Amino acid sequence: MRLIRAKDYQDMSRKAANIISAQVILKPESVLGLATGSTPIGIYHQLIDWYKKGDVDFSRVVSINLDEYCGLSDSNPQSYSRFMREHFFDYINISPANIFLPDGTQTDSALECARYDRVIVEHGGIDLQLLGIGRNAHIGFNEPDVCFSRGTHQVTLTESTIAANTRFFESVEQVPRQAYSVGMQAIMQAKKILLIASGADKAEALQKSFFGPVTPQVPASILQLHQDVTVIADMDALALCPAE
Ligand code: GLP
Repeated sequence: MRLIRAKDYQDMSRKAANIISAQVILKPESVLGLATGSTPIGIYHQLIDWYKKGDVDFSRVVSINLDEYCGLSDSNPQSYSRFMREHFFDYINISPANIFLPDGTQTDSALECARYDRVIVEHGGIDLQLLGIGRNAHIGFNEPDVCFSRGTHQVTLTESTIAANTRFFESVEQVPRQAYSVGMQAIMQAKKILLIASGADKAEALQKSFFGPVTPQVPASILQLHQDVTVIADMDALALCPAE
């Protein structure tokens, strides 16, 4: 694991955006595994800026997002599909045909999970997987569990994740209890992983994930077994990690 210490949120965002734009410049047809949450917003805004300046071209990029809430259609303001359009896709030249997210309205979960796994395989897997991290160390929506997940699956969100994500909804009751999430297999088979973390509320998750035992109770700890992981975190998120 390569740990890059950023000064603050803006520094973290620029450094991570540099890595993503380098990936796209080196391989214009890259398959990006993209993430939602507040942490990647600064990255997306930076990439939009560079796109507008002509520095990076997304016309051949494929995006396969990590997860989606069950029960929300892509027009729902809280859906991850809408989030990606509002924060990124609407401002760059990615082809709509190259954008993939799980379909939250699909009630046949086995069918939807199998379809999404096929999408990943048909595109040859993920070249660069961007990950945020939950306060309980979840990645995508892979919540703490007794074993690591394999393929795309339907998840029942933990109380801690529901509480953390309530800020995007009008009330806690409106937060969907279930989501579709890419599993650990697709994440671990990504050629490169870029995990970003900002703020003191991520410090414990970061410390346990990268400096504690590998355990499904700390989902991101599985990344210790991946050969090409870059973590970019700001000083607050690094507060509990070893100094050097
Ligand atoms: C959600 C997403 C995750 C994300 C996490 C942290 O649960 N499913 O992919 O990493 O939130 O979000 P934030 O960056 O807002 O702290």
